[in-house]
Amino acid sequence: MAKSGSHVVVVGGTKGIGRAVADALGEKAVVWSRERGVDATDSESVRVAAERLLVQQGAPWGLVHCVGDFYEAPLLSTEPLEFGKLIASNLTSALLVTQAIVPSMLAAKCGRVVLFAAAGAGKHRAMSRAPAYFAIKAALVHLARSLAAECAPSSVTVNVVSPGLVVHEHSHEASQRRILPRVPMGRLGTTAELAGVVRWLLSEQSGYMTGEDITVDGGLQL
Ligand SMILES: NC(=O)c1ccc[n+]([C@@H]2O[C@H](COP(=O)([O-])OP(=O)(O)OC[C@H]3O[C@@H](n4cnc5c(N)ncnc54)[C@H](OP(=O)(O)O)[C@@H]3O)[C@@H](O)[C@H]2O)c1
Repeated sequence: MAKSGSHVVVVGGTKGIGRAVADALGEKAVVWSRERGVDATDSESVRVAAERLLVQQGAPWGLVHCVGDFYEAPLLSTEPLEFGKLIASNLTSALLVTQAIVPSMLAAKCGRVVLFAAAGAGKHRAMSRAPAYFAIKAALVHLARSLAAECAPSSVTVNVVSPGLVVHEHSHEASQRRILPRVPMGRLGTTAELAGVVRWLLSEQSGYMTGEDITVDGGLQL
């Protein structure tokens, strides 16, 4: 197996926020997405991609997971099938990629993991706009904290970024338009603003921070 490198796996790096992260990283980015032949909800697909990566390039410095479908519906009319798909997209995929990659970081005794939740998910209150989605993102925040505790002795940090309303070509325009009047900054966030936070979390300078959930929402949760 090759030694640890400076490359960063960006899961979901072909669209939206993930693409901005991959663009900012340039040639250091190793992009995984279904379009690139990796389905992060499928354990075999992730296993094959991770094995290839670890043999060819060694342990990555960073893992950024930007996958996470959105779903708006009251809880009582949320279809079980949709609920299962949401769990797979937001939660199972995060667990599969961390299980496939993070052990190599622990062995290298360095690394950064960045997961994506959503602004407000970590708060103890009702999230009526998209309750199933926010409940699953809350589980992701909790999962990240436990992972951070498991990884801290090896100097691998695990943090969560929780965006508010971020505009890009696939963002949920109608839903964002309804919420926008409540954003104190009066505008949507950009993918570059999220990528900037991720870049800092991936840097050497962030090394003493782990298990945190960083909200980037123009003040929406204030
Ligand atoms: N945009 C916002 O306003 C906002 C707000 C709050 C939270 N978030 C969270 O921030 C993260 C990024 O959001 P985004 O809006 O940038 O997402 P997005 O535009 O939907 O992009 C998702 C990325 O993940 C990939 N992907 C989806 N399913 C996948 C799978 N099964 N396996 C591998 N790759 C998969 C997609 O590429 P392929 O289709 O090629 O697979 C794409 O590159 C998500 O976790 C989202 O829940 C976003």
